[in-house]
Amino acid sequence: MKKLKPEQLISARKISGRVGSLGRKISEDYEGRELTLIAVSKGALVFAVELLKKISIPLKFDIISASSYRGTKKSSDFKINFHPAHELIRGRHIIIVDDILDTGKTLSALGYFIMGLSPESVEMCVLLDKSSERTVDVKCRYWGFKIPDEFVVGYGLDFDEYFRNLPYIGVIREK
Ligand code: IMP
Ligand code: MG
Repeated sequence: MKKLKPEQLISARKISGRVGSLGRKISEDYEGRELTLIAVSKGALVFAVELLKKISIPLKFDIISASSYRGTKKSSDFKINFHPAHELIRGRHIIIVDDILDTGKTLSALGYFIMGLSPESVEMCVLLDKSSERTVDVKCRYWGFKIPDEFVVGYGLDFDEYFRNLPYIGVIREK
């Protein structure tokens, strides 16, 4: 692997504080409702697992996995590789948890897919929001940090599958 050293953008401590407040907010907002968190694999797994532990109300959990081919606009280029269990979605309140909202294509397509499985409601929660890159309008109710248009890794996010294990969010700047 090429020698790349990510520069810290958001510390582990900051992430932990923000994930805690997102968990408390979700717990308040969904009190008394049947909640299911759906994590978008693989990038959102670290975030989702930490977030789960900060939510104090009963919930169910599953994952979804999709691939999109960047740089293309055709929706046929979007493929769901792993489906969540339908009984965890039907009639329940869903929060789709992802690592980063970039162009919005992934979350918008996943939102439509989940909506087709008859949930009671669907909201989105992302750790990072790179809003300068947005091409599709996505309504995201919960977000952790707004970040500039840079390539970030760590806390689940990868570069060529590396760096998912970094405890912080770092920026990769190729020199
Ligand atoms: P979108 O469909 O353009 O919103 O793409 C979102 C997906 O692209 C994320 O779930 C990530 O997998 C990937 N992605 C976008 N920006 C970054 C980044 O800065 N670092 C790592 N992955 C990214
Ligand atoms: Mg991803």
